[in-house]
Amino acid sequence: MIENIKQHINEVKVYTSDNISDIEQFRIKFLSKKGGIVTNLFKEFRNIPAKDKKEYGQVLNKLKLSVEEKVSNLKSALKTADTGKKDFDLSLPGDSIEVGSRHPISIVRNEIIEIFNRLGFSIAEGPEIEDDWHNFSALNFPKEHPARDMQDTFFVETNPDILLRTHTSNGQVRVMENKQPPIRIIVPGRVFRNEAISARAHCIFHQVEGLFIEENVSFADLKQTLLYFAKEFFGEETKIRLRPSYFPFTEPSAEMDISCTLCNGKGCNVCKYTGWLEILGCGMVDPNVLESSNIDSEKYTGFAFGMGIERIAMLKFGIKDLRMYFENDVRFLKQIQ
Ligand code: DAH
Repeated sequence: MIENIKQHINEVKVYTSDNISDIEQFRIKFLSKKGGIVTNLFKEFRNIPAKDKKEYGQVLNKLKLSVEEKVSNLKSALKTADTGKKDFDLSLPGDSIEVGSRHPISIVRNEIIEIFNRLGFSIAEGPEIEDDWHNFSALNFPKEHPARDMQDTFFVETNPDILLRTHTSNGQVRVMENKQPPIRIIVPGRVFRNEAISARAHCIFHQVEGLFIEENVSFADLKQTLLYFAKEFFGEETKIRLRPSYFPFTEPSAEMDISCTLCNGKGCNVCKYTGWLEILGCGMVDPNVLESSNIDSEKYTGFAFGMGIERIAMLKFGIKDLRMYFENDVRFLKQIQ
């Protein structure tokens, strides 16, 4: 008897069909209340000797379960095949692959590069992982300068000589140590500072550095170059003003404001009713910086400037929160093209 049931189990195991009425016949053959194999075998139960009852019951239950499972598996396989067939309409247009858009930072960076290219500036690069010399010392940062403090700088492991560059000014040094003037370069790139992340600050951001060294370069050249940039980038009516400032690597140093792009200088909440927006730092390259890279400061002079791309993109596109640049939400990215 038990052997007989085991044979049925094997029969169920190998059974297959993709025809719904065959599957139903198969179910009836085993499970029908009237004359089904399993039903009949259950009826036999009372004739089984007591000592075999346990094993008989177990094997028979197994048969019943395996039939039920087989039927339900075959039926659900049929269902998926069915719906598959219905959905498959060759005449339907395919799913389109979404086309991405450029990130606002890339758009602004490319536009800045283009403008300075027109003035003869070529692109240079410096490494993101930098040493103290190229990021600080060669740029005339005194040893005790607060920007070297752990507050601002990310050091790589425990070596205080290796750090993530805090500005793209390292590109100046990299170029000057390899090339004698005339030098006319811009250095776009990513920089890192140990800042708490907020709407107005981030620990990763982007800058474009500029450097022009030649004989007889004057502050007037700096001013004219930056005025050209401001008009090209923000519009012909844009005005600039330079305010005295301090950077270790330039003397004299200045910060440049542009007339507010929103109110045209009349005063609004973006420019805090001053009519002006600060966009970059600049100045005449300090002779110490030239000498550090073996450029004769008696013969050559130059100017440099550095601007934050996020800040400029904010002004251009009216973006209010720096963090949006890094979230990469396509709804945000798509608005700006
Ligand atoms: N490196 C400066 C910063 O990160 C920006 C800067 C200011 C660059 C003046 C310059 C410059 O080349 O002349 O804040």
